[in-house]
Amino acid sequence: MSKALEGVRILDFTHVQSGPTCTQLLAWFGADVIKVERPGAGDATRQQLQDLPGVDSLYFTMLNHNKRSITLDAKNPKGNAILWRLIAECDVLVENFAPGALDRMGLTWEKLQAANPGLILASVKGFGPGRYQDCKVYENVAQCVGGAASTTGWRDGVPMVSGAQIGDSGTGLHLALGIVTALYQRTQTGQGQRVDCAMQDGVLNLCRVKLRDQQRLGHGPLMEYSQYGEGVPFGEAVPRAGNDSGGGQPGRILKCKGWEQDPNAYIYFITQGAVWGSICDIIGEPGWKDDPAYATPKARLPHLNEIFTRIEAWTMKHDKFEAMDILNAYEIPCGPILSMKEIAEDPMLRANGTVVEVEHPTRGAYLTVGNPIKLSASPTEVTRAPLLGEHTDEILREVLGCTDAEIGDILGSGAVGGVHRIAAE
Ligand code: COA
Repeated sequence: MSKALEGVRILDFTHVQSGPTCTQLLAWFGADVIKVERPGAGDATRQQLQDLPGVDSLYFTMLNHNKRSITLDAKNPKGNAILWRLIAECDVLVENFAPGALDRMGLTWEKLQAANPGLILASVKGFGPGRYQDCKVYENVAQCVGGAASTTGWRDGVPMVSGAQIGDSGTGLHLALGIVTALYQRTQTGQGQRVDCAMQDGVLNLCRVKLRDQQRLGHGPLMEYSQYGEGVPFGEAVPRAGNDSGGGQPGRILKCKGWEQDPNAYIYFITQGAVWGSICDIIGEPGWKDDPAYATPKARLPHLNEIFTRIEAWTMKHDKFEAMDILNAYEIPCGPILSMKEIAEDPMLRANGTVVEVEHPTRGAYLTVGNPIKLSASPTEVTRAPLLGEHTDEILREVLGCTDAEIGDILGSGAVGGVHRIAAE
């Protein structure tokens, strides 16, 4: 079966997490992704958080599937010349260097456009234009400046970052959409363009509902926040709301059977208005169905703590999966708090390709997250991440048409480091 992005060639000048997330997705959709790495070192994440000595880390392998790797010193004259030859053969150049680094390599937008007018230049930076535009940014910084940290955690606690990598992977996702959109526009104009995603903007986009609440706050208290029912006054900015639902249907994380021993014996329970009657029956409060203090969503808002305490008395009698089964029969929206161990072992996630086992020549088998976007006519096969420079020789020959003599010359110049040829796997 063909792949959606077959024929698209990406020069992947990304590192760490944000950029690699984007190019990995494009590779899963069938693009030929050529990852350019510095000879000897490569993407810094190859060596970060290593669990096995001398073996590419899971940090790297889980973000760089389905790519080819070429080592190239962009600051070596011959290396730079090879880079320009690759640029002429590619549709997209993706990078997430610190601001100014690409220009310092001589890869300015003007020169890139002149060399390849159809080229799309896609970049992740921490901030958009303005006073922070030159700053380096990592995940948690983005969560802090994009509004996530100030609105996450407990009201009386410190700002909190999330385990979900909304700054890095979230911005990579935004960038991937920008790239395919630019590729589509190019089919009509023939022209490339720049695609710029700032991590601050990406996080804020994912915190859209909190900017909504900031404006609602100007018109009165946020009645679905627990603090409203607790009589705690609101300040000038959206507060941290613990595990309150961010939407119009109040929800909480509630204890389930075994919570004393198991840190994840909890369920998220949403008191959707449409199923209020069923909730009352299940928890043994049928009188709440017609009691004016509880019968409507608005009437319930000041009583959320009391209501959820009562629901929790019921959830604590069941384990989280049992509770999920019972509640789902009544179409009550809920979900167990799954640990990473439970997710890794979940047969359903394995069966649908969301959790995938991959073989690696030096690591052996490892688990990864497969493509969460399923295209019916472009199925994803997850293949392992490349070793450093594994495809240098192959790319020089196949993409640039280099001869043996040229390759000898390139090797002698130090532009590509050593050429990696692995034994049959
Ligand atoms: N050949 C030659 N030089 C190379 C190279 C290659 N193949 N690959 C990288 N380099 C050089 C760069 O040119 C740069 O040199 P310069 O500073 O002299 O111009 C240098 O390596 C370091 O790049 P930089 O991006 O500054 O790396 P860093 O490790 O110092 O910073 C980040 C890392 C992530 C903080 C920074 O890249 C950044 O802010 N990126 C944008 C935001 C982002 O994506 N952040 C999230 C990452 S998950």
